[in-house]
Amino acid sequence: DLGPYRHYMQKEIFAQATALADTLAPALKQGFSPALFGSNANEIFTNTTAVRIVACGSSYHAGLVARYWIEEYTGLPVSVDIASEYRYRSGREQDGTLIVAISQSGETADLLAALRSAKERGQVNVLALCNVAHSTLTREADLVILTHAGIEIGVASTKAFTTQLAALFTLAGALAQHRQTLTPDVLAQLANCLPRLPAMFNDAFAVETQIEEWSHLLSHYNHALFLGRHTLFPIALEGALKLKEIAYIHAEGYAAGELKHGPLALVDEDMPVIVCAANDELFDKLLSNLREVEARGGKIFLIAEPGCEAAFPYCYRTITLPSQTGPLAPIVFTLPLQFLAYHTAYKKGTDIDKPRNLAKSVTVE
Ligand code: M6R
Repeated sequence: DLGPYRHYMQKEIFAQATALADTLAPALKQGFSPALFGSNANEIFTNTTAVRIVACGSSYHAGLVARYWIEEYTGLPVSVDIASEYRYRSGREQDGTLIVAISQSGETADLLAALRSAKERGQVNVLALCNVAHSTLTREADLVILTHAGIEIGVASTKAFTTQLAALFTLAGALAQHRQTLTPDVLAQLANCLPRLPAMFNDAFAVETQIEEWSHLLSHYNHALFLGRHTLFPIALEGALKLKEIAYIHAEGYAAGELKHGPLALVDEDMPVIVCAANDELFDKLLSNLREVEARGGKIFLIAEPGCEAAFPYCYRTITLPSQTGPLAPIVFTLPLQFLAYHTAYKKGTDIDKPRNLAKSVTVE
């Protein structure tokens, strides 16, 4: 039942604050406890020497964000692989590697093949992050954490993606707590972010009207670049994927520092450049990247945390988020990019819930 919504994707975008609260509920009760992941998580976390994340599509982007969190909070080496590539690579896994397999459906063929292959490469344990409690993925894993996004009907992943990020943040926190890699104060600060997330996300819905105005402009372009740094780099990839997937506009996500290494050659007045800017220690670096875009006539559409927008007044359009988002920036910044893809696709009249050539669950290779 669509209720007041035009599409399931739109309904699912608006369901996210609730989905995030539901996904975080166990962590809010138990804190960053290994028990969130299964009764044998204590032992597995103690023996973990490295983390390898495998996934496809949006779930892969969630894994790329998690790498920043897990490396920073635990010091463990983390690698992230596209499942369809990992399964055909050779190479052993270091004993004690925790394979984190992320999938909304738990039935993605390449992902299942990747995790089976990982088990043959060394003494590994598999942690499944899934939205479907009884799926092939959860059955084959040693540890499980579920997202509570509810059924997602739109082919484009929205609430499944943001709840994956929330669950991965709790994984980073739980590994850090178990391994005592952060001071109690820092750990408490991270834990205190969690109860604030649903409200912070809800507040960000206020940007929808402005994003809808952007979509009028964007729908006339054939290409777009998305830029971010640090945890917002994978969000740039995700924003580009959403625009390709439902609005059929060629889009690329880039780490802003990579501009000079190639994509800057594409920038002119016909290239919209959508930038996610967090108020963090890399902001000055991002500013110099933006100056390069501006000098070449690129049209900058800036989505910024409060405080950043004033530093770069030369943007074509700017939207300021209602509040600082701290380490949860990637979750909140996803929302405007979902709206951007949704409204642009709506202007273009595409089949938003069932984009051409795509299936919700990719159960064949
Ligand atoms: O069910 P999964 O999370 O394993 O699916 C992975 C991808 O097929 C999926 O995220 C896909 O990229 C989405 N349609 C993107 O919106």
